[in-house]
Amino acid sequence: MKDRIVSSRLKGEDALHENNLRPLTLEEFIGQDSLKEKLSIYIRAARERGETLDHVLLHGPPGLGKTTLAFIISREMGVNLRVTSGPAIERAGDLAALLTNLSSHDILFIDEIHRLHRSVEEILYPAMEDYALDIIIGKGPSARSLRLDLSPFTLIGATTRAGLISSPLRDRFGIVERVEFYSPEALCSILSRSAGLFGVEMDRQGAMIIALASRGTPRIANRLLRRVRDYSQVRAEGSITAEVAVEALNMLDVDRIGLDATDYLLLNTIINKFDGGPVGLDTIAAAINEEASTIEEVYEPYLMKIGFLKRTPRGRVVTQKVYEHLK
Ligand SMILES: Nc1ncnc2c1ncn2[C@@H]1O[C@H](COP(=O)(O)OP(=O)(O)O)[C@@H](O)[C@H]1O
Ligand SMILES: [Mg+2]
Repeated sequence: MKDRIVSSRLKGEDALHENNLRPLTLEEFIGQDSLKEKLSIYIRAARERGETLDHVLLHGPPGLGKTTLAFIISREMGVNLRVTSGPAIERAGDLAALLTNLSSHDILFIDEIHRLHRSVEEILYPAMEDYALDIIIGKGPSARSLRLDLSPFTLIGATTRAGLISSPLRDRFGIVERVEFYSPEALCSILSRSAGLFGVEMDRQGAMIIALASRGTPRIANRLLRRVRDYSQVRAEGSITAEVAVEALNMLDVDRIGLDATDYLLLNTIINKFDGGPVGLDTIAAAINEEASTIEEVYEPYLMKIGFLKRTPRGRVVTQKVYEHLK
């Protein structure tokens, strides 16, 4: 299950390719129109005033462009970007070191910011609010607190779990934005761009077939494209048409709306073992032998988005749409 082709999580193989496919400017970044417009205004305004950009929190499911946007923002601001992640910062001192090494206007990008340790998070509050570090020197009654000034900087946080971010941290971000699933049309444009970079021929119908199976997610679209490209090269003289795309997706066991064996297992389990629900997340997790957090973060958002699954106070429920799709 860890190797699902339609998982939105970053896999080892992707990391290599994603850097080549990543759009570098807001202009090249496809979709998310309202978010893009807001960001371009904030960036331009900050630049014109010669100021640091306000702290930005980007939240939403994996693979929708949060990391890409952090890179684009730094490029458009013309400043350096330091990249780290919540779980990578083990001690308060690690974060203090990162912060003191930033130059004026630089950006610190903390991925998976919901996984920051509490003690580390507390360092961030004065840093974000006053560009200052509060350091305790000594122990016991003679301990003193010392305030160190930092260069003005921008923190960009990314998270797939906005609900897990404490409110004191959340409140310190001036810009809080959600990244949304992409429309099939936007995914088609992303796929065409990637196909161009790969140097593979693909017609609009072929792109649409892959787009519809991409679960609203550019990361999955690009991953499927790589596999369809292989298939077309060996079986169809290298050109991706609708027919070739359909055959390749069949081979990959991905259906036309991007569901794979794991989704089928999840939906069939709720239907057959729990009468269609409501059933608790942990119960589902145990029944299909998958982690509850993975189900919640990776599988469910898309199933909910297409109206296959609903969250109720008493648990998950499958909808009529699922019965029609599964038949
Ligand atoms: N709007 C977009 N336009 C084109 N490609 C995109 C877009 N958003 C994401 N991608 C592609 O999807 C990949 C995954 O995006 P990423 O920023 O790593 O997602 P996240 O950080 O939200 O998990 C990127 O490498 C890029 O190739
Ligand atoms: Mg990311």
